[in-house]
Amino acid sequence: MLQYATNIVKIRQKLVKHFRCSSTSAKPNLTDTITINNKTFKRDDYTNITDKIVCLAQKSLHTTPHHPISLVRQRIVNYFYKTFLNSRRNPLFSVYDNLSPIVSLAQNFDSLLIPENHPSRLKSDCYYINREYLLRAHTTAHQAELIRAGLDNFLIVGDVYRRDEIDSKHYPVFHQLDAVRLKTKDQLFSCENDLKLFDCDDTACIPGGPTKQRCHTFEAFKLMEHELKTTLVGLAKELFGNQVRYRWVDTSFPFTQPSWELEVYYNNEWLEILGCGIMMQSLLTNVGVNNRIGWAFGLGLERIAMCLFKIQDIRLFWSNDSGFLNQFKDDDLKSPIIYKPISQHPQCIHDISFWLPEDKTDSLSFCSNDFYDLVRNVAGDLVEQVLLVDQFTHPKSGKKSLCYRIIYRHMERTLTNAEVNEVHQLIECAASDQFGVTIR
Ligand code: PHE
Repeated sequence: MLQYATNIVKIRQKLVKHFRCSSTSAKPNLTDTITINNKTFKRDDYTNITDKIVCLAQKSLHTTPHHPISLVRQRIVNYFYKTFLNSRRNPLFSVYDNLSPIVSLAQNFDSLLIPENHPSRLKSDCYYINREYLLRAHTTAHQAELIRAGLDNFLIVGDVYRRDEIDSKHYPVFHQLDAVRLKTKDQLFSCENDLKLFDCDDTACIPGGPTKQRCHTFEAFKLMEHELKTTLVGLAKELFGNQVRYRWVDTSFPFTQPSWELEVYYNNEWLEILGCGIMMQSLLTNVGVNNRIGWAFGLGLERIAMCLFKIQDIRLFWSNDSGFLNQFKDDDLKSPIIYKPISQHPQCIHDISFWLPEDKTDSLSFCSNDFYDLVRNVAGDLVEQVLLVDQFTHPKSGKKSLCYRIIYRHMERTLTNAEVNEVHQLIECAASDQFGVTIR
């Protein structure tokens, strides 16, 4: 365990300098407004977005030419362009890839029928700007407004934001692609005039199968399920090859019913690549659509890119290193690219242990995600992983102690001990300043 900083005065001076240009979730910034992408918002008791995240919100990896995230986007978009054509042989789907990531709670949650008490709304899981706005936690946030605008077939691609742990597979910003397809009775049944989309059908439960919505006829539901699943299996084959093993897993989302996840077998394990389902009919009626049934899905681009290009660490997507980016310069979208790691530099491991202040011993007032954001803010991408390795409550005093292991590793060079010590001490000071913890 690391000792408390030796030259605490010097470290504190550095800390003050550091925080002049940054802020963390735990302590409200001195100013009462926050500016993101040239828009200014009022802070309130919900604000937990950090400057580190505000900086990341300016990049647009999904539209940066030759960036691996953009390559995966292009492959998926091209698959939709060629699979769905209108009568004039033009692509049916339109693509929205520059919608602002700043959305209202109404867009991110209410429009998707996500209940008030749903865990996805928690402050510990989202980056809130204030009580009214947040950085979208999924691209599905735009579904309802695009349907209201009159669209029937569309894709949404964008950056999404979630507070999460720190390891090689999680980053607070990642990218998603969502799709919606709505069909009228005539489009679904062609010339079968006696078939209907809607019915008040009491046989909601198909024996042995998932539960369809009661308002849908069995035949409408089945045709939609079939089109959704064949489209997505086709997509999985397009990305991972014809031989890919896959399976469907039942799940639930507030905005689709029934809902499924598609898993592909990759590297000796089943990997969930997307969530999908038949859209809740009430979501459609809420935006004025009464004559269509829809399917929708959403997938994460990083996870697919990490598999396709064999990229081991999610931080690499944010690297400016030409050794990384130049490996994706191939103009042939279909040519297989396997990323060759730029040498692996050594890790440097330090633990940090502290007593929580007495008023913060419950899990609601201090959560690990607060600490992870502080680490990201101070140390940025120098940190590869943070693990909670120990926690205990003192039997007499009732005080709670936590120990986190911080694994430092730079993507592009070897870190010196001195610089890691310095950053680690900055983290200790920041933690005691902002959470009132006592370093042990
Ligand atoms: N928004 C869901 C997620 O982020 C994915 C999803 C989109 C599921 C659309 C169903 C329909 O996990």
